[in-house]
Amino acid sequence: MRFSKILAFIPALLLPLTGSVSGDDRFDGPTARLAPTPPMGWNSWNAFGTTINEKVIEETADLLVSSGFKDAGYLYLNLDDGWQGGRDAQGAIHADPTQFPSGMEALGDYIHSKGLKFGIYTCAGTKTCGGRQGSLGHEKQDMKTYASWGVDYVKVDWCYTTGLDPQKTYALYHDGIQESGRPMVLSICDWGVGKPWEWGRGIGQLWRTAGDLLPCWDCTTSWGGGGVIIDLYRQTGLEAYAGPGGWNDPDMLQVGNGRLTPRECRAHFSLWCVLAAPLIAGNDLRKMTPETKEILLNPEAIAVDQDALGRQGKRLKSAWEGRDVWAKPLSGGDWAVCLFNRGPKDAPIEVDWADLGLEAGPREVRDLWARRDLGSFTGGYTAEVPSHGVVFVRIKGQNS
Ligand code: GLA
Repeated sequence: MRFSKILAFIPALLLPLTGSVSGDDRFDGPTARLAPTPPMGWNSWNAFGTTINEKVIEETADLLVSSGFKDAGYLYLNLDDGWQGGRDAQGAIHADPTQFPSGMEALGDYIHSKGLKFGIYTCAGTKTCGGRQGSLGHEKQDMKTYASWGVDYVKVDWCYTTGLDPQKTYALYHDGIQESGRPMVLSICDWGVGKPWEWGRGIGQLWRTAGDLLPCWDCTTSWGGGGVIIDLYRQTGLEAYAGPGGWNDPDMLQVGNGRLTPRECRAHFSLWCVLAAPLIAGNDLRKMTPETKEILLNPEAIAVDQDALGRQGKRLKSAWEGRDVWAKPLSGGDWAVCLFNRGPKDAPIEVDWADLGLEAGPREVRDLWARRDLGSFTGGYTAEVPSHGVVFVRIKGQNS
């Protein structure tokens, strides 16, 4: 492997990161061990917004099991904004009794009875982004309450936080989780505002790197949301911060949502796997098309995301009319390579073995969407890639 390529994938372990938690814990302590690979699950926000209730969550739990998501690794069932009712006289939070008449503990029991893990959402400010009760002033109390409900994963959002310091604030949630005595994943959701990649490791296990991912190709909003390719290029330069125990989070999947075509969804999913992104599905499982299901459940794409080496891939090269080559090194010397055509016309895209720092000698190539071996190639591999599509391959290393 060429020296420049080695430099590009320096493990996060070697970086001088700062944080309020001791060095060991950031890489190998109980906090880091909660996410040796990027977390996988489902979250209610992208499909349902704040209109969630007990019935829809229980149906989703059933479908995560019966549709094969649990077996594919999607373990967390995460409620997002909209579940909160008020606080009692002691300040304890409770669920909205109309939406969740049986309460959160019963819901957690149901989710656990399916062999899934229970995730919940709160916001560091006075209110959530959807206008419900926030956790400001109740940080540790809320972590204790969640622990008593059997929660396994907490996402903490960043609306209504004027004057708060992100690092200090999220450290408070980390401490609250530790004091609760229950291991809970902490998902830092400050949209990258406080550069959480610089301090998030050891405080939480994943940190959002940008605004919300929208279910479109290249749309944007005034409040920082962006479509697939807008969000994708916001990840550049953050690769070295991701690794076992702590992950950059380019936001939850929009596969099966909005204006994205199946081809665009396949590109989105492939690229999120190359990024070693947390794979949190966000579609309505009750209305899923066979194509959406096939994309989300592709075991060979998921294996790229979940590879034990834990490296985040990146764009290796870009040519005219939007021809990109993205690549992620895998354990055993394999490489995942995504030939990505973001341009308006179908086009040939080539990866040279030299781009990966490899010798020119013959290498086996497997197509991860066609799910078949393509044969042995010397010097590199070229494929015709449809507009807004990918050809996603695994290149076998000498040791695999
Ligand atoms: C913010 C977050 C989203 C979602 C909503 C809920 O926009 O970034 O992921 O949690 O709030 O209101």
